[in-house]
Amino acid sequence: MATGFVKSERLRKLPPYLFAEIDKKKKAAIAAGRDVINLGVGDPDRPTPKPIIESLKRHAENPAFHQYALDQGSPELRRSIATFCKARYGVDVDPDSEILPLIGSKEGIAHLPLAVLNPGDLSLVPDPCYPVYRSSSMFAGADVRMMPLEPAHGFRPDLAAIPETDYARARLMFLNYPNNPTGGVADLAFFQDVVARARASGFVVAQDAAYNEMYFGDPPPSILEVAGAKEVAIEFHSLSKTFNMTGWRVGFAIGGASLIAALGQVKANTDSGIFTAIQHAGKTALDEYQTLAPSIRALYRERRDAFVDALRRIGWEVSPPGATFYVWIPCPRGYRSTELCGRLLDEADVVVTPGIGFGQTADGYIRAALTVETPRLLEAVERIGRLAL
Ligand SMILES: Cc1ncc(COP(=O)(O)O)c(C=O)c1O
Repeated sequence: MATGFVKSERLRKLPPYLFAEIDKKKKAAIAAGRDVINLGVGDPDRPTPKPIIESLKRHAENPAFHQYALDQGSPELRRSIATFCKARYGVDVDPDSEILPLIGSKEGIAHLPLAVLNPGDLSLVPDPCYPVYRSSSMFAGADVRMMPLEPAHGFRPDLAAIPETDYARARLMFLNYPNNPTGGVADLAFFQDVVARARASGFVVAQDAAYNEMYFGDPPPSILEVAGAKEVAIEFHSLSKTFNMTGWRVGFAIGGASLIAALGQVKANTDSGIFTAIQHAGKTALDEYQTLAPSIRALYRERRDAFVDALRRIGWEVSPPGATFYVWIPCPRGYRSTELCGRLLDEADVVVTPGIGFGQTADGYIRAALTVETPRLLEAVERIGRLAL
């Protein structure tokens, strides 16, 4: 007998949404008129720089851009991406076959598993991580094996600790450097080891470089700087954080032609590209990278230093992130992350994200995003300092 709607198995298999409770409390606090300081979301608070907005305005007037975009993205944007990759990383990527503009990097990350995984394959996913790696692997029917990111390993997976049996089954490994949520960074030597492993075992490496331009030390490398990487690696880049453009939805993938073509094939059957005027505005952003990105980086450096100093002054042990606008804070006094986040919200009106939302290994951490102005960051710490934790 017919019954009501039942959610698909694949949705029911997803891990519970662990931010739900804190989200509900946050909304209730705001609705009650409390002065909430929200360090919970990784969404830049400053507006998109003027030249990018002006570029969108100009290009939005062009009637040719009101029609469907090209599946492979506009040639002008792809050429600018190639120029950017050469200047920033010294990497040659062919605009016609090794670049794919994306409706935000999330879209490409979510679609990639459909291009490379068969049901029952193994996908290696970091723990903690941006949750999309896991859910998209599961949507493709893959088994997921989590790779713990330990502070002792600089929040990089210990490649030697992954069993050979897992390498033999793995068809995909997700990496994310600079890392959300830990702020960890990877150097070229690590990428060289990963690429060597991937080539030996026959898996694809998906490196999520969404935060590559938000750094405070040496500029993070591209995995494509490793010789031979294009055969096994695809790298996801985002304009969202680099240029305060999260709402615009523009990013890109770079990699070997066959990987890019496979991802393109999934996309061609799923979406119809990015509004072409936005692609041209994205081109303006990349063309102006040298003038726009440094001041955004400087802003987060100032906030990072002020916030970390203030936390240390109230006795919290915290390391400044080498990159990203996230501060990954070990919970003081043995708190579990949800309990601590609950108290900070209930008693200090400060929203931070519980580590457990990013993975089982992260329950001893909370994540604060540097997405409010410095005086508000300092006020958040002052309020936290007044609590008897
Ligand atoms: C690690 C990571 N990758 C990808 C994304 C998605 O960014 P985009 O706006 O390019 O889709 C985010 C967004 O927060 C992120 O934190």
